[in-house]
Amino acid sequence: MRIARDLPSLRAELARLPTLALVPTMGALHEGHLSLLREGRRHAGAVAASIFVNPLQFSASDDLARYPRDEAGDLAKLEAAGCDLAWLPGVAEMYPEGRATTIEVGGPSEGWEGAHRPGHFRGVATVCAKLFLQTGASVALFGEKDWQQVQVVRRMALDLDMPTRILPCPTVREADGLAMSSRNRFLTPAERALAPLLHAEMQRVAAGTPVAEAEARLAAAGFAVDYLALVEPETLRATTARPARLIAAARLGNVRLLDNIAA
Ligand code: PAF
Repeated sequence: MRIARDLPSLRAELARLPTLALVPTMGALHEGHLSLLREGRRHAGAVAASIFVNPLQFSASDDLARYPRDEAGDLAKLEAAGCDLAWLPGVAEMYPEGRATTIEVGGPSEGWEGAHRPGHFRGVATVCAKLFLQTGASVALFGEKDWQQVQVVRRMALDLDMPTRILPCPTVREADGLAMSSRNRFLTPAERALAPLLHAEMQRVAAGTPVAEAEARLAAAGFAVDYLALVEPETLRATTARPARLIAAARLGNVRLLDNIAA
């Protein structure tokens, strides 16, 4: 696996590669990321992963400094997964002094995560646009675990006629149903034991239980539910119609869990 840390080296590496599938990540890689790499191989001649903890998508309360980082462990996992190229830009490489351009996506970025984390999707859209342009990837793979993020990135790629195809891939779960996330490592053993209840209650809603009942059960178990809502899958508008997407964000201690399923 080749590693690039600045744009000239990235360009030199890209010149040697055929069509590229990109898996954008913030590191702290888990099986969910590796499944994207394996899928990427089916869609392009080479696979790249970017690792960049993007300051633009964090607010003060998100605590950028606390985000898990494990570069050596991540590179070993990428190597073992057969990744061809790791793109590891620093903050100054990604956001040079004097930068003045960001990307604002309306529509699907309004509400839910967009409301709870103002500016978050501006940061995600801006860095994804840059990653697509830097790598020239023909396809970029995203986990459906961050459902709203996928819809925002798709909308941006569509609206800006980006040549990169956005390929959403199914959420990878632990055996007990908890959606894999880099932040799960911050759950205490008691919180980890409780965490799968979120997915279990979501499955009950998909099977017909009222959202309010599931919300009450989660709150009684110790979750602080930010939202549990049925939405139109692409626009993220709240809906009562089915089929829909059931999206959730709930806090257990210091960890905010996100999940979504078809409902
Ligand atoms: O989902 C993530 O890890 C990030 O939001 C992404 C897509 C890599 C952009 O920083």
